[in-house]
Amino acid sequence: MSQRLRKVVFPVAGLGTRFLPATKVVAKEMLPVLDRPLIQYAVDEAVDAGADTLVFVTNRYKHAIADYFDKAYELESKLAQSGKKELLAMVQGTLPKHVRCVFVTQPEALGLGHAVLCAKPVVGDEPFGVVLADDLIWNGAGAGALRQMAELSARENGAGVIAVEEVPHAQTDKYGIVDASPLSERAAKINLVVEKPKPEVAPSNLAIVGRYVLPGRIFDLLETTKPGAGGEIQLTDAIESLLGERSVLAYRFEGTRFDCGNKLGLVKATLAMALADPQIGAATRELVKNSCA
Ligand code: G1P
Repeated sequence: MSQRLRKVVFPVAGLGTRFLPATKVVAKEMLPVLDRPLIQYAVDEAVDAGADTLVFVTNRYKHAIADYFDKAYELESKLAQSGKKELLAMVQGTLPKHVRCVFVTQPEALGLGHAVLCAKPVVGDEPFGVVLADDLIWNGAGAGALRQMAELSARENGAGVIAVEEVPHAQTDKYGIVDASPLSERAAKINLVVEKPKPEVAPSNLAIVGRYVLPGRIFDLLETTKPGAGGEIQLTDAIESLLGERSVLAYRFEGTRFDCGNKLGLVKATLAMALADPQIGAATRELVKNSCA
C-alpha cells in the first residue's frame, strides 16, 4: 500500500527580482491575484490534495508568509466586535483548523533542490508534495492538480509524479524538460529529465511545471547532487538519479497553469479569476470588450 500524501513543501525563499521594486518589501508569493495572495492558491491546492502539514522553506528576511497564516488577534477581535462576520470568516479561513504550518530556513540560496532538501527533517522518509506558488494552476471546481497527482501516485504504488505541459520549443531553457513514453492519455513514464536545456539539445518540449509528488528517497539523492544548471543544486538532477531506481511519471494535469513568476502571467491569472468572479465577472467582460474595441 502506498502512503497518503500528508506533507507538502513550498519553496518560498526566492527574491522575486522580476517584480522589483514591489518585492523589496512584498514577498513574491504574497502578490495578489484579485484578493488572495499566490501562496493562498498554492496552499488551497495542497489542502485539497489531503495535506495536513505545510512546510515553508523560507529565508531569514521573509516573515510575511508566516504572518499571513498566523492568527491576527487584533484584526479578528475588531471584526468580531463590529459584527463583520463575513470578513472575520475570510480572515480566519486562510488555513483549515486541522492543518499546521512548519517554517524552515534555507540558509543560502543554493537552488530549488537545496531548498527542498532543507525540508528533510520535517518530511522524513515519506512521500510528499512540492508546490511552486508562482505556477498557479486553476481547475475551477474540479480536483486541483496536486490532488490529481497524489491520486495517480497512489494508484501506481507510490510512484513519483511530476506535472508537465508543452511549452514553445524556443523556451526549453527556462524549464526542466522530460523525455517520456506515454502510458495513458495524461500519464507517461519518464526516461530522462534535464534542467534548462537549450532548444537545440532539448529532448522534447514537455516541461516540468511547479508540482511534484516525490518519495522520501529523493532527500538522500539531493544530499549528493552536485550543482548543475546555473551553478545551483537542481531538483531535476536528483529526479534524474531517482529514475535509475524507480519509475517516475510525467502527468498532464487537468487545469490551466499561469506562470505568475512574470508580469504577463500574473495579468493573465488576474484576468481569468476576474472573469470567473461572481461579483466582478460581468463588469470585467465589459471592460475587456471595450478596451479591445
Ligand atoms: C524550476 C525548476 C524547473 C521547472 C520550473 C517550473 O525552475 O527547476 O525544472 O521547470 O521551476 O516553474 P525555476 O523556474 O525556479 O528556474
